[in-house]
Amino acid sequence: MTVQITLPTTSYNINIQKLKQLSFDRKVVIVTNPTIQKLHIDYLMKNINAKNVSVVTVPDGEEYKNMTSIDIILEHCFKQKLNRKSILVAFGGGVIGDMTGFAASIYQRGIDFMQIPTTLLSQVDASVGGKTGINNKFGKNLIGAFHQPIEVNIDPYFLTTLDKREVSAGISEIIKMAVCFDESFLNSLQEWDLNVGSDDLNKAIKKSVETKAWVVSQDEKEKGLRAALNYGHTFGHVIENETNYNTYLHGEAVGIGMVMANALAVKLNMMTQEEADLIKKLLEKYDIPTEYIIKDVEDFYEHFFLDKKSLDDKIKFILPVGIGDVKMPDDISKEDVISVLKGFTNE
Ligand SMILES: NC(=O)c1ccc[n+]([C@@H]2O[C@H](COP(=O)([O-])OP(=O)(O)OC[C@H]3O[C@@H](n4cnc5c(N)ncnc54)[C@H](O)[C@@H]3O)[C@@H](O)[C@H]2O)c1
Repeated sequence: MTVQITLPTTSYNINIQKLKQLSFDRKVVIVTNPTIQKLHIDYLMKNINAKNVSVVTVPDGEEYKNMTSIDIILEHCFKQKLNRKSILVAFGGGVIGDMTGFAASIYQRGIDFMQIPTTLLSQVDASVGGKTGINNKFGKNLIGAFHQPIEVNIDPYFLTTLDKREVSAGISEIIKMAVCFDESFLNSLQEWDLNVGSDDLNKAIKKSVETKAWVVSQDEKEKGLRAALNYGHTFGHVIENETNYNTYLHGEAVGIGMVMANALAVKLNMMTQEEADLIKKLLEKYDIPTEYIIKDVEDFYEHFFLDKKSLDDKIKFILPVGIGDVKMPDDISKEDVISVLKGFTNE
């Protein structure tokens, strides 16, 4: 099945199916890491027709989503004498996708790239929409560019080798899409069993991709609606930061973040307790963590201001309005937030 995304300057297909034969009459560089290379490069190569294809690997891990890895990729491109018609293929999870897209956006002022995402999180979210970038010592994804892929090829087969926790982290982002934009999708998620290889998971991938494509087509550069995709992230980023990025996967921290955002939404009468409980139960069904003990509420609150989405010293919260809608207020009182955060302490 194919979902099309149409933007003001471009449009492209997102194919969700067994990987098709990919033919290129230009130089191709596949960007991946050793983990994915070992597991899946043969499968990919069998599906590529090109006279000139090479592979460059960067170390595996979010800590390598940096300028050093970009240098490795660009250096390979220069050594292979890529020109402006050449293409990069991102073959991996969100880290590889974001870095490959960024390298493609700056190599000779911009060349094409294709996404072949291999984690659930990257299949349902990161590979679609053209946000590319890297981290630096000041924070995550602070250097980057909007650069759309020419095509996204999602093959659920790759998920068969994915760690169970990584699958759950991807499901967390699927639940996020449903809560923000589609009540009937959330109802379906309550009935479905999202096991790797199941029809239910494939349907959920398709629905998430359709939702993401719809959001991005409304707001490519995140001037408004697209920011709603950060539901759960405002709290989640603080949790990741407080735990030194070594305790929770991103999707897991977002899971806890959604529970916290829901608690704030309940306090502000935007969501009922029953709706919040229903989402929590759904997260728990997939072993996504929902509990977190805040040690210092004031400190947790101060952390919000480090988030790059907090403009002009205001914190923008992304809060569900019931299920299927979302609001992004930036005027919630500190007292309300603190009182909700206190619900996540041991007191
Ligand atoms: N651009 C966007 O719109 C967007 C959206 C959400 C997240 N992101 C970014 O995505 C990144 C997270 O992506 P992720 O969750 O995919 O993490 P990841 O890319 O680090 O992949 C997770 C782990 O799974 C391994 N892996 C990948 N595919 C595998 C497979 N098929 N089988 C076995 N192992 C496999 C990877 O090597 C890695 O160790 C973050 O850097 C985040 O900022 C970007």
